[in-house]
Amino acid sequence: MSLKGKVAIVTGGNSGIGRAIALGLAKAGANIVVDFISDVAATETLKQEIATLGAEAIGVEADVSHVDQLQGLIDAGVAKFGHIDIMVNNAGVETRTSVLETTEAQYDKVLSINLKSAFFGTQIAARQMIKQGTPGRIINITSVHEDWPMPGNTAYCLAKGGMRMLTRTAGVELAPHGILVAGVGPGAVATPINLSTMKDPALMAKLDAAIPVGRMAEPGEIANVVVFLAGEGASYVTATTIFADGGIMQSSVGL
Ligand code: BGC
Repeated sequence: MSLKGKVAIVTGGNSGIGRAIALGLAKAGANIVVDFISDVAATETLKQEIATLGAEAIGVEADVSHVDQLQGLIDAGVAKFGHIDIMVNNAGVETRTSVLETTEAQYDKVLSINLKSAFFGTQIAARQMIKQGTPGRIINITSVHEDWPMPGNTAYCLAKGGMRMLTRTAGVELAPHGILVAGVGPGAVATPINLSTMKDPALMAKLDAAIPVGRMAEPGEIANVVVFLAGEGASYVTATTIFADGGIMQSSVGL
């Protein structure tokens, strides 16, 4: 129970990687603020699962692409638990569109949900940690595509590349306050964001062949890295990204 007494906020926390992160942090002893934008029932089920792990959770409906709603999310966590210690900027979407076809609306959606939310989530959480006078951890869920082009997914790559530099710059700025900022860069993970690939056996075979470990990750394998970064074992890790991608970025087998 290394995170006993800690409070973690997980954006996009009721599905995919976010859900696994909420469960992983709760298993390590943290109480959880689960941010969500839809599916109250899924959030309720998750809260119950967290309770069976001996931790407490609240669900807060907030569209984190709006700064006032992000502020409300963090305020709700403080109102319930008295403080926050771990901010996980996880919410993400992709549109799978190229440079030539991406519309302004698609660009704005992808950049605001992935990057703007992480920027202001970092800012608001850090301000709260400084106000509390406690150290803290900010963990940005990026992607191999913070560094690795994905043709046909341009806005997403831009957003993740921005999160890479957010992690590095905020990590440098916030270290004197005792706040560590790190990124986790997954490769392909079995979550709703990859549903269309998972439904297509030919695409799946191609993807598995491109991944040195031979398969997609389970969400819990990404959550394990987040739990490490939230804990004492990661006391010297900041302003960088840990990739959990089964080796895909280093592979010479193209997608
Ligand atoms: C994207 C997936 C993609 C994976 C590996 C993830 O960040 O969300 O669509 O399959 O990276 O390329």
